[in-house]
Parts: sequence; structure tokens; C-alpha cells
Amino acid sequence: MTSPASQPVLAVEDLGVEFPTSRGAVKAVSGLSFSLGAGETLAIVGESGCGKSTAAMSILGLLAMRGPCRVTGRVLLEGRDLMALSPRAMREVRGRGIGMIFQDPMMALNPVFTIGWQIAESLRIHQGLSAGAAHKRAIELLDLVGIPSPAERCDQYPHNLSGGMRQRVMIAIALACQPKVLIADEPTTALDVTIQAQVLALIQRLKRELGMAVLLITHDLGVVWEVADRVAVMYAGRKVEEAPVADLFGAPAHPYARGLLRAARWKDDTSGRLPEIGGTVPSPLAMPKGCSFAPRCGRAAADCGKAPPALTGTARQVACYHPEPVAA
Ligand SMILES: Nc1ncnc2c1ncn2[C@@H]1O[C@H](COP(=O)(O)OP(=O)(O)OP(=O)(O)O)[C@@H](O)[C@H]1O
Ligand SMILES: [Mg+2]
Repeated sequence: MTSPASQPVLAVEDLGVEFPTSRGAVKAVSGLSFSLGAGETLAIVGESGCGKSTAAMSILGLLAMRGPCRVTGRVLLEGRDLMALSPRAMREVRGRGIGMIFQDPMMALNPVFTIGWQIAESLRIHQGLSAGAAHKRAIELLDLVGIPSPAERCDQYPHNLSGGMRQRVMIAIALACQPKVLIADEPTTALDVTIQAQVLALIQRLKRELGMAVLLITHDLGVVWEVADRVAVMYAGRKVEEAPVADLFGAPAHPYARGLLRAARWKDDTSGRLPEIGGTVPSPLAMPKGCSFAPRCGRAAADCGKAPPALTGTARQVACYHPEPVAA
């Protein structure tokens, strides 16, 4: 099925995720909406705990792995509502529609099977390849992700591989069925700098060659600058700003986005000064009634405490009562 040019490949509409806990409901994601076109990369950034992985896992219907939860909203893959699918149909989507690279490669790899078998299995189930054809394709895929001597590597187990090699195997599995969307959750955090660059270059190349859409979750703004088209900034479960990367990095409108960027620049600075967003993220059990960033915000005024600000704008969306002035 080909999608009309105007229809995004992936659209997330008003996504909400709540975890019931003994101390009350933890609202991990609230009112999150975004869309992704073919061949486009959207980065999601924000401090630890702001809901990035929760959002990614709920798109794939994998949140139950983290315990009981309540998910609301809609996730549309080429217009088809994934929330309405049966578990079986959802497994199919995970095999062919959306590939995922997890924060921890061992989450996607089974320690008791060889890596060749794991890639071939996915090809047999989702693409109906024969055992021989699947094995041959598995070797090609390992070669594609830059694994030396791929035929020999096929017979090895995940524990025989270095962290960087495991990450590449996970990418090979995610890409095996040529998904329309790749969700990459901190794909390079566990890797050393050289391998990081290679993995990012690989994702970029495959995106170009296969026309995949990429949802990239990272805390590394340098990576965002290099590979993303647009960036969404999340704070305490909500999207507070989204814009083309050059616009947001050039002039962030939300005070939190501005703080994040400044903190990142200071990290590169060798003077040893600390990043300066004062205060801490509010507890998800005790969210402020109004804007959740207001207690840490230098621009906050009385009206910020009334209700969470709505997102406004189109090319650049901002949820703030008193944004930094930026050129239209
Ligand atoms: N099963 C669960 N039960 C209760 N709370 C949870 C559960 N899973 C996640 N949370 C909470 O949801 C919030 C969002 O977590 P999430 O892992 O999505 O953050 P993140 O942005 O991916 O962080 P990081 O950058 O550290 O990976 C956090 O406050 C976390 O403690
Ligand atoms: Mg995470």
C-alpha cells in the first residue's frame, strides 16, 4: 500500500500513558502528538525520566513489558490505528512495519540462539523465506551493518560479541524486513565514539537507501544536530517545543529548550562549570497544576501556575505562556 504524499507514515495523536503505583498514578506521557514523513528523522530529546522510552514502547505496544499501564490516544501507521490491532496483528507490525533499536541490545537478542538464527527466524516468519534463503539474507544483512566475516559471525551467540557488534546485530534485526519506520532509543549511548559515528552513518545511509522514517531518541544534542530534520523537546511527559533542528538550535523558544542547549554547550566547555538549569524535574506523583517547568523557569509569571500551556504554532510548536522571542 502506498500512502498519499500528504499522509505521514507514522502519526501519534494525543498519546497518554499512566502507570498505576501504590503511591498513585504516574503520568509518564501526556497529550503527546507528532508525525513523521517517509525519509524523515525526528529526534526526541529531554532529561532522563521525561517519558521518551515510554512513548516509544507504547507506539510498539510493548509497554506491558514494564508492568500494568493505561495507554490512551492513537498511533497511526500509514493511517491504520495500531491501538485497535490484536496482539497477533501487532506482532506483524513489529516485524514488518516498525523496527526498533532498544536502549539495551540484550532486550532484543535472545542469549540462547545464534545471531544468524535470530535474523533468519524473523525473515522466515515475516517474509516467508525458506531456511536457505533466510540464512543467505542474514549474512547479507550482517555485512550491510558492517560486521566483518559475516558468515562466521552467524554461528556465534550474543555473548560472543562486543557491545558495538551486538548493537549492529540489533540494527540488522530491526532492518531485516525493511520497516517503514525505525525507532532508535539511544542507539549509540553504550558505544565508544568511533563505533557511535559508524552506527549513525549506517542509520543515515539506510534511511536514504530504503526511504525509512526514523524516530531517534537521544540525550545527545550533537547527534541530533548531525542526523535529525526536526527535534521535539519533552519535559515531564509533555512535548514543550518542536521545530526544524536549525530553527530550534538557532533560537529555542521554550525556556527549557534554551536551558538544555545551554547546558549541552557548557558540557563541551572545559572550564569545569556546571550546567545551569536550576532545580529538578517534578515528581510524576506531584506534578504542578500549571506548566510543569514553571518552578524552574526564569520567565515564569503568575499565569503559568493556572493550567498546562497548550502547544501553539505550526512549523514551530511551543507550549509556553511566555516564550523567548524568536523570529517567525
Ligand atoms: N512500570 C513503571 N511504573 C511506574 N513508573 C514508571 C514505569 N516505567 C516508567 N516509569 C516512569 O515513567 C517516567 C518516564 O520514564 P522513561 O523511561 O520513559 O523516561 P526516559 O525519558 O526514557 O528516560 P531516560 O533518558 O533515562 O531513558 C519516569 O518517571 C519513570 O520513573
Ligand atoms: Mg529511556
